[in-house]
Amino acid sequence: GSKLRILGIETSCDETAAAVVSRFEDGSGLIEADVVLSQLDEHSAYGGVVPEIAARAHVDALDSLIEEALVRAGTTLSDIDAIAATAGPGLIGGLLVGLMTGKAIARATGKPLYAINHLEGHALTVRLTDNLTFPYLMLLVSGGHTQLVLVRGIGDYQRWGTTIDDALGEAFDKTAKLLGLPYPGGPEVERAAAKGDAQRFNFPRPLVGETRLDFSFSGLKTAVRQAAESIEPVSGQDISDICASFQRAISRTLDDRIGRGLLRFLTEFPQGDSMPALVVAGGVAANQELRRTLQSLCDRHGFRFVAPPLGLCTDNAVMIAWAGLERMALGMPADALDVQPRSRWP
Ligand code: KG4
Ligand code: ZN
Repeated sequence: GSKLRILGIETSCDETAAAVVSRFEDGSGLIEADVVLSQLDEHSAYGGVVPEIAARAHVDALDSLIEEALVRAGTTLSDIDAIAATAGPGLIGGLLVGLMTGKAIARATGKPLYAINHLEGHALTVRLTDNLTFPYLMLLVSGGHTQLVLVRGIGDYQRWGTTIDDALGEAFDKTAKLLGLPYPGGPEVERAAAKGDAQRFNFPRPLVGETRLDFSFSGLKTAVRQAAESIEPVSGQDISDICASFQRAISRTLDDRIGRGLLRFLTEFPQGDSMPALVVAGGVAANQELRRTLQSLCDRHGFRFVAPPLGLCTDNAVMIAWAGLERMALGMPADALDVQPRSRWP
């Protein structure tokens, strides 16, 4: 038929994921299966992802997850047009597991293999969910990345800003740890903040006012530690107040940094035929205050704010399959089977 169907594989961090996604000639897509297994329980005792444990867990789970994805999609490997596997950036042990599995399937079936950049997956998902056209701005906020990226086309990206120290999710996780909250810290900090006084602590807003579009969050974490140390003993209300103040500082920071990014976009693309758009991706996109901040920023600047469903913001294999489909539909070449995983791949 006229549709393309790809099996996607994602193993770059602590989620093992497989998906079957189709793309039709009109550019629309269909998620036929989306299976994600989180390793959270295996890592939470350590307060973070342990690479060796992650790699072994991918080995344990990946085969049956791929099988499950195929069954749910009601298909078999012979009815798949290509395989897309994450080749980086990420933890090398996990990348090896997923990419080598993808290579083996490609070799055994004779189908093409697309070695996908995980960040490209995050950047393109919104074209599957919202049919968004280029160019648009994407804010990726996860445990490993904080980037503002101009998405001009498939394989055509320009990083406008990045963090010079901690990722935003990392700042949430470290703040939670300092306050004795469990891992992953983002949801815990958000929950505590809901009962807190955001005006109590005046935490720093790093880089606010600077013209470059970068981010910095490590100073904020230090300020949180000093605030916690200044109170003895720290009560539940103190923790809530710290969390609320922390989130307020982040909102103010993002409002300034991203606001500058939106203005730059309007300067570079003054007369687009459609409304400009800001897309958010990554696990921190679950945060409601962050969403409110970005929504009101977009309202003020005439941007559409697009947040894909949460399951497609966090790590998944649908986005990897979709990135493969976009490449394939453009006639971009598949990768040779000697392609190597890359732990760093900007
Ligand atoms: O994209 P993701 O699932 O995994 C990678 O980092 O690759 O993002 C996980 C990060 C963690 O740092 C977690 O604390 C953060 O997203 N996070 C949140 C929230 N939910 C998850 N941060 C703030 N508020 C939340 N509600
Ligand atoms: Zn990710």
